[in-house]
Amino acid sequence: MKILVVAGARPNFMKIAPIVRELRRRGESSGISWEIVHTGQHYDYAMSKVFFDELDLPEPDYFLEAGSGSHAEQAARVMVAFEKVCLESRPDMIVVVGDVNSTLACAVTAKKLNNIRVAHVEAGLRSRDMGMPEEINRIVTDALSDLLFVTEPSGRDNLLHEGKEEGKIRLVGNVMVDTLFQQLKRIPQLPAAEGLPEDGSYGVITLHRPSNVDDLETFRGILEALGKVSLELPLLYPIHPRARKRIEEFQLGAMVRESGIRLMPPLSYINFLRLWKDAALVLTDSGGLQEETTALSVPCFTVRENTERPITVDVGSNTLVGTSCEGILEAFSRFQAGQIKTGQVPDLWDGCAAERIVDALGDALK
Ligand code: UD1
Repeated sequence: MKILVVAGARPNFMKIAPIVRELRRRGESSGISWEIVHTGQHYDYAMSKVFFDELDLPEPDYFLEAGSGSHAEQAARVMVAFEKVCLESRPDMIVVVGDVNSTLACAVTAKKLNNIRVAHVEAGLRSRDMGMPEEINRIVTDALSDLLFVTEPSGRDNLLHEGKEEGKIRLVGNVMVDTLFQQLKRIPQLPAAEGLPEDGSYGVITLHRPSNVDDLETFRGILEALGKVSLELPLLYPIHPRARKRIEEFQLGAMVRESGIRLMPPLSYINFLRLWKDAALVLTDSGGLQEETTALSVPCFTVRENTERPITVDVGSNTLVGTSCEGILEAFSRFQAGQIKTGQVPDLWDGCAAERIVDALGDALK
């Protein structure tokens, strides 16, 4: 039995890494042969290759060079190239992860080509915000998937509500957390990170959602709030290419330079982990970081109006603070007054999700 494991953009690489490691560990005894497909949605060294190196992922068997473009262009390029891969490789099933354009494009392609089975890791999450490209990717991918691996109970509830059969859904925990726990063990062997205040008196920003950075007024308001926060708590911002472009385009550079926000290039997984794990506060619009901060009980402000990962707010260390300048500042003044949320780690976020996933893949392919 053969599977293709698909990844395309930065947040996908840490999700496939533990699955690939588990498949490798089991070797032929799993009865599954596998190949890796990298769609090339992210292609820069800092956005892609460094993750393969650090996460010990083998070279992809197929690299599709899809690159950037509009959503339609990007998805279309992935679909054309991935169809050829499926015809050549003849998988029994494909495994897609997360919610990026590559996830949707490969799921659609496989399903329409001889009804190849699709397993979706991180299924069922819903923000109910159809303005987010990721929400559309999630809904379409889940609608087509034969096996739905969910990270939290809300994922199962959403899928049942949408009419999916219970038998297709498996609550397996969180592969991001598998990678997190595995990489944490490496940190003591590395030289100390330079230039970080040792007492953790700093915050970390990641911000790149189109809804936050592609609109001048919204991005300006968020940066104004973060600039004020940075006068009390220095903020480090490893910046995604999309957000860097917008700062230049909207001429917001001077505002950032005059604040206590320090821009940095995108970091590798381990260097980013070293940065945020000891931070006093993380401010983000990323999906993954909401979960990672919950797994390590680091206080997190999510700069969005909604989250598809409600367990990080209900159980974990995450607070939804919205995208308005006033909302962010109000949340920060509560934080300064000592209302600091550290939360608990959700069930099954134990570093063993990939084992459960590979067990289920083996059963499904028997
Ligand atoms: C994508 C995902 C998003 C994820 C994010 C993580 C979708 C719809 N969005 O958004 O869910 O959180 O990745 O990074 O799939 N670029 C580079 N180098 C690269 C890749 C991109 O410079 O290696 C630049 C390009 O100019 C491109 C822009 O970044 O236009 C955006 O890239 P794209 O893949 O379209 O979406 P992201 O914003 O990265």
